This record gives sequence, structure tokens and C-alpha cells, in this order.
Amino acid sequence: MTKMNTDKTFSAAQISKMFRVESSKQTLLNAEEKGIIPTAQRIQRGKTAYRAWSLEQLPLIGKAIGYLAPIERPTVLSVFSLKGGTGKSSLAFQVARTYALHGSKVLMIGLDAQESITQTLRKTTPREESANINHITEPNGIYHFLTDKEKAIELESLIQKTDLATLNYIAEGIELSVLDNWLNQQTRKEYTLKEKLVRPLLKRFSFDLIIFDCNPAWNSVVTSALAASDALISPLGADINSLKAARIFTDLLADFQDDMNHTFDTFFIVPTMLEANKLSQSVQARYRLDYDTLCTITSIRRAVAVQESNLNGTSLMEYAPDSPAYDDFVGVMKEISAAINVAQMAKVSKVNKKKSKPSAAAAEL
Ligand SMILES: Nc1ncnc2c1ncn2[C@@H]1O[C@H](COP(=O)(O)OP(=O)(O)O)[C@@H](O)[C@H]1O
Ligand SMILES: [Mg+2]
Repeated sequence: MTKMNTDKTFSAAQISKMFRVESSKQTLLNAEEKGIIPTAQRIQRGKTAYRAWSLEQLPLIGKAIGYLAPIERPTVLSVFSLKGGTGKSSLAFQVARTYALHGSKVLMIGLDAQESITQTLRKTTPREESANINHITEPNGIYHFLTDKEKAIELESLIQKTDLATLNYIAEGIELSVLDNWLNQQTRKEYTLKEKLVRPLLKRFSFDLIIFDCNPAWNSVVTSALAASDALISPLGADINSLKAARIFTDLLADFQDDMNHTFDTFFIVPTMLEANKLSQSVQARYRLDYDTLCTITSIRRAVAVQESNLNGTSLMEYAPDSPAYDDFVGVMKEISAAINVAQMAKVSKVNKKKSKPSAAAAEL
């Protein structure tokens, strides 16, 4: 059986690096003393007692001193682009876990029958849960929930736990490969995921962020996920084949937004798999020229640490907070988070304006 991360502890130095606490370690110790962050255990080594925080405490620490601002209103984010292997599932996982470590309540919904994000997340499922899963059957997924009316599957039964109380997921399965056929027979297929899944989830549970990890195909499952999303993040690989796919992708996306009358509050292209060679660099430059401010300022380099952290079921901030790969993700995460917050503030001010405007009836008086 795989060893769980839950008994792992984090030192003050590690926490400072993970949450990018700019000033000295002392900041963290002061925050502990003032009760801004939870109290660490003291581990005696010789004459000195070291502070050690547990994994469970990290979301509270992140909320208090992390670099991501909390999400004020529930947000649905899709990670999608047309080509496989551009780092979509990896980015979706890092975004999910990093937000969860900053205290936001996150639900990851994988939409790929290849199950890559589910395999990563399953590594973090608490032991007793995974024992159940192994002994009974595969957990219910969204296909069962949406299509099997006779069984009347409860939404609760879909939600899987991880080693973080703030991170849950709905498991993918091979049956997702036929979800598209089913959706195509529905009258309002574009709105099915929004109306039958996202709304009930947000009504019943207090998730701050729902993330769809899409499979790389333009089909009804994807368009239905996009129509339910406030934000879209599209990782594009810095290689020739990804560049070719990018043109088709952005055209499809523009048509989709027109046809559906749907605009994303937040949309970013993230150049990924960047390598030091000339070709990769010039593809990246091409993205920046063509898509300008739609591209994140930070690109994600190809780095083995990303692969390792996926295999380990931990985020880069836990696995390699010193790595250049984590620097890249911090850059991208900060940009995404800032954009989500700006979009939310714009929405709030719109609502307030409406509220403060006297109604037509009141104006007549
Ligand atoms: N920045 C990166 N550097 C190196 N390997 C990466 C990086 N991002 C993802 N990978 C690896 O590349 C493979 C494909 O990534 P994945 O995130 O599954 O892509 P997608 O979801 O777009 O198909 C995986 O083995 C993953 O671990
Ligand atoms: Mg994937």
C-alpha cells in the first residue's frame, strides 16, 4: 500500500518557500505567535526544538499568508486545448492543489476516459476510502449520475476525498468515452453540464472552485463544460504540431463564443513544454505575437519535476518548492488568480450599481 502524505510535516523554511513568504523566516514565526497561522508541533532535536506543521494545517496557513487571494464567488474553470500532451491535466492538477493549499475549496472533475488526473488524485485518497474502492467497484462518475435515472444516484456519492480537506474530485472512468453519444441525444446538450451537474453541485456544496480537466477533442462534452465555465485556461505546447493545432483551436473557440453568446470572464493561453532550443523558443514567440495579452507572461518549461510531482500525487509547492518549474507555476497561478479576482470585482460592482440605481417605479415618484 502506498504511503500517505498525511504524516508529512513541513518546517518553517519549507513553508516560507512554498508560500513564497518574501521576508525572513521570522515573519512566519511572528505569524504563529500572533495566532495568524496555526501552531506548529515542536520537534526536539538535541537541545533545539524545531517547528513542524502538518499537511492538514497548510490550507489555513495558505489562506493567511499565501500568494493566492481567496476566491470570493464560486468559479468554474476549464482547462482545455485541442492537442494531447500539452500539460493540461498537469496544470489542472497544480491549479487545483495549489488553490486547495491556499484554503479554497476545490472540486476537480476529469472529463477524459484516459483518467490521467484521476490516477494522480487517487494517490491522495485516504487509505480506508481507497480500500473500499478496491474491494467493491469503481466509484460512480458523472456518466452514471447523468444517465442512470433508475438508480437515482446521489450527488454526494460521486465526491471523492483526498488527503486535503479542501480538495475533492469526481473520478473519471472508461464510460466517459460514451458520454458524448448520450449528450448528443439531449435537447439542450450545451447546457446539460451546467444545469444538471454544476448548478446542483454549487447549490449543495460550498465549493469555491470547480475545475474541468477536458479531453483534447472538440465534442459535446467539451462544449458543454465550456458553456458552464467562467474561466478557460488553454495550455499550448511550444512545438510545431501544437502551433498548427492552435490556429484551429482559436478559430473554433471564437465561433463557439459567437454561437453560444458566451464569453469567458477569464481566458488565458499558457505556453507550455518550453525548451531551450531555437524551434521551441520561436514557437513561443509566435504565440506571444499572435495572441499577445491573451498569453500568460510566464511560460511553463519542460521539467522533470512536473512529471515527478504528478507521479507522487503532490503539487510542486510540496514536492519541489525550490525548483524553476515551481517558479513557472507560481507565475502562471498568480496571473490566473489576479484575473479571476478582477472579473469577480467587476461582477460585484455591476450588481451593486444595479442595486443602487433607483428602479423605474421609484424614479417616477
Ligand atoms: N512542464 C512539464 N515538463 C515535463 N513534463 C511534463 C510537463 N507537463 C506535463 N508533463 C508530462 O507530460 C505528460 C503529458 O502531460 P499531461 O498533463 O497529461 O498533458 P495533457 O493533459 O495535455 O494530455 C505527462 O507525463 C506529464 O507528467
Ligand atoms: Mg489530460
